[in-house]
Amino acid sequence: MRSISIHLVVAARPNMMKIAPVFQKLKEKSWAKFKLIHTGQHYDKEMSNVFLQDLQLPSPDFLLSVGSGTHAQQTARVMERYEEVCIQDNPDIVIVAGDVNSTMACAIVAKKLQKHLAHLEAGLRSFDRSMPEEINRILTDSISDILWTPSRDANEQLLKEGISPDSIDFVGNIMMDSFEMLRKKIEACSTLDDFGFKHKKFGVVTLHRPSNVDDPNSLKNIIETLSRISREIPLVFPVHPRTRERLEKNNLLDKLNKMQSIVLTQPLDYVQFMSLVKSSSAVITDSGGVQEETTYLGIPCLTLRETTERPITVTEGTNRLVSIENLEANLKTLLQGGCVNARVPEFWDGKTAERVVESLERFCQRKRML
Ligand code: UD1
Repeated sequence: MRSISIHLVVAARPNMMKIAPVFQKLKEKSWAKFKLIHTGQHYDKEMSNVFLQDLQLPSPDFLLSVGSGTHAQQTARVMERYEEVCIQDNPDIVIVAGDVNSTMACAIVAKKLQKHLAHLEAGLRSFDRSMPEEINRILTDSISDILWTPSRDANEQLLKEGISPDSIDFVGNIMMDSFEMLRKKIEACSTLDDFGFKHKKFGVVTLHRPSNVDDPNSLKNIIETLSRISREIPLVFPVHPRTRERLEKNNLLDKLNKMQSIVLTQPLDYVQFMSLVKSSSAVITDSGGVQEETTYLGIPCLTLRETTERPITVTEGTNRLVSIENLEANLKTLLQGGCVNARVPEFWDGKTAERVVESLERFCQRKRML
């Protein structure tokens, strides 16, 4: 049997969670020869190394060390550096995940070098083109040969955009595979003790979207609201580097540090973070992945955004889109009543990586590569 050479691309924290389960499943297949490419979009220890280790990913075969910059700088650096690797290493298939700048950059490089391109987590749309991720999603999907979707509404969206049905495969939500892969560790983790939250009600906060943290007034308003909320329920807030920078710049970090009922931490590793979320009474976030994880775990989630590219977390799950004006009222209602009628969406079952690898094998057979 011929073997297929595959590049698995990671760049930022959320990509690592998506690629890790696929990496583990591919290991079982003798036909798959694969390499891990890390663009280095996230480079802090807490944002990268700790995640790779936690998710049982090895050191990358190629580390492109692109770092931060404007969108154009970051995208251009990824393209230049990945192009060299892609030419030199000449993979048959490139797998990209999610919607970060590196996802789109590597997708364009791979396709222009006429590689087969697969997008894991395809078909999500917020319909808000002011979000950089929306541009990354649309562009990546439009040139992918295999589009792996997390929910059926994503299939419908791709069909509306004229993508051939043969290219689309509904595989389910890969983030649940990461959770199941590490469930034992998550359940045995001592983070709750470390923060003094064992047997207590508490909330978790994560914020990093430009729409919330880049505007000083909006950031100040959020911090004041969190301060009021923390008088009702203590909060733990792992601070993303982008948010830390903005808090410091606007003299809000000291203020926040002095609030007794808000515990500020560095970004947590995956196991610690999931163990907190799993035991929390509610989560306040603007992340994409956290909306899905809370739906999976049945934890009320308040998303500080006007739109979501994951509407199924609202229609079927525990997610509510809120504004800073109505956050407190919504939280109160959720803490009293919980999330009635919420359920876990179809194929969010920890078996997505298996379906991804089966789909990949079928693609290779169809193309007579295997
Ligand atoms: C990126 C993704 C976003 C994803 C998020 C997850 C894009 C457009 N955005 O946002 O979709 O939800 O990752 O975390 O791709 N920084 C550090 N250390 C790091 C990484 C970043 O200090 O390891 C700081 C830098 O000041 C940098 C800023 O954070 O300028 C923003 O980083 P960047 O990778 O551009 O975007 P994120 O906000 O992390």
